[in-house]
Amino acid sequence: ASTLGEAAAEQGRYFGTAVAANRLGESDYVATLNREFNSITAENEMKWDALQPSRGSFNFSSADRIADHARSQGMQLRGHTLVWHSQLPSWVGNLGASELRSAMNNHITTVMQRYRGRVGSWDVVNEAFEENGSRRNSVFQQRLGNGYIEEAFRTARAADPNAKLCYNDYNTDTWSYAKTQGVYEMVRDFVSRGVPIDCVGFQAHFNSGNPMPSNYHTTLQNFADLGVDVQITELDIAGSGQSQAEQYGGVVQACLAVSRCDGITVWGVTDKYSWRSGDTPLLFDGNYNPKPAYHAVLEAL
Ligand code: XIL
Repeated sequence: ASTLGEAAAEQGRYFGTAVAANRLGESDYVATLNREFNSITAENEMKWDALQPSRGSFNFSSADRIADHARSQGMQLRGHTLVWHSQLPSWVGNLGASELRSAMNNHITTVMQRYRGRVGSWDVVNEAFEENGSRRNSVFQQRLGNGYIEEAFRTARAADPNAKLCYNDYNTDTWSYAKTQGVYEMVRDFVSRGVPIDCVGFQAHFNSGNPMPSNYHTTLQNFADLGVDVQITELDIAGSGQSQAEQYGGVVQACLAVSRCDGITVWGVTDKYSWRSGDTPLLFDGNYNPKPAYHAVLEAL
């Protein structure tokens, strides 16, 4: 295969990227996107502040542009993200418990119903754990307590019974790490009690201080063994040249080693527009030339 998407498809996986709606007018960006990738995640356009900036008033225009692009190209679409402490409009933080509960459930229901049949997997809850494995002290946690995650997943299942429902987080790659264990315990508990969860997303934002762990496939396999699928959802790796390439190849190998690893999404098309652009963490440079990391991924697939 000669593209990331085709090579992944031959392995029964997808290879996706985050996309920014305001770049879809740039021809080199779109050409690279359409040629190489067969799955899209909206980089910001499906977050709460973008979709419901004020209470009860939804704006789907940018999210729709991305969803329409995916459909026109026959690409899969990941939904990111419904319940998250960040990029959350301030009105949400001002609600009391019962209003927050209904706002959360209304947001999940309204957004998921709009993209029903189009979004294959949703990041229902994002980044709900602290590094020490305890629950993050978000407004949802403060007002609604431990049960809010479970409630979000139950609401999500009702809103779109055919979408895969994921919990997504970062720094959950190393098996022995406290945060990994905290998330694992939650997923184990959900599965054992029949709380609807289908997948766990691993953001995989790596750098020299936080590299891909050597036991990565063990972590992915241990989660998969709970009975959920796993996905690499926001991959980017600081660096350049061969060392960056080797790490990218390692992530692909870790995913391919786990039959329940659905696919990999990199967090952007080109270093030029990366959220961590100084790190040059992606597969294409600022001129859309494939980097050694690109060739390593293609090779590993
Ligand atoms: C980032 C986007 O890439 C930036 O454009 C935005 O300014 C901040 O959010 N974890 C996530 C993603 O789940 O939504 C974040 O995306 C990166 C970290």
